[in-house]
Amino acid sequence: MGEVLGYVRLQDKYAFPEGTGVLSVNGLAVAKAARGRGIGSILMTAVTDEATRRGARKITLHVHGTNTVARRLYERHGYTVEGTHPREFLIEGQYVDSLVLAKFLT
Ligand SMILES: CC(C)(COP(=O)(O)OP(=O)(O)OC[C@H]1O[C@@H](n2cnc3c(N)ncnc32)[C@H](O)[C@@H]1OP(=O)(O)O)[C@@H](O)C(=O)NCCC(=O)NCCS
Repeated sequence: MGEVLGYVRLQDKYAFPEGTGVLSVNGLAVAKAARGRGIGSILMTAVTDEATRRGARKITLHVHGTNTVARRLYERHGYTVEGTHPREFLIEGQYVDSLVLAKFLT
């Protein structure tokens, strides 16, 4: 039987017509023991392929400013920072920015 090593969730960002074609990555994770082997990259390639298949024009996501591994992964896949929510989260006593990243497909 297979083992789940990771998952990614891709959803429509908006429920109204003006936002058609904008998708959102709402969750990406790889099992700790399986990290650093390119599985995250495979999942992000699958995101682009699936978004293209759906005719999407833009993919967006949020990432903690301190999550350097995830940020590098997204940058490698063509995502750029569109904006920042400063001091959005409080993690172990430290405020952390939430970054809005996006990639255009068309
Ligand atoms: C972020 C996350 C999904 C990345 O998953 P991953 O499978 O480790 O990602 P990859 O293996 O594709 O890339 C990670 C690193 O491994 C390297 N790598 C990939 N394949 C490799 C290989 N065959 N040999 C050596 N290194 C490799 C990549 O170059 C990358 O290095 P870098 O960070 O120094 O640039 C994972 O760390 C995770 O689940 N983190 C916790 C949850 C999380 O932060 N999710 C994102 C929320 S926005």
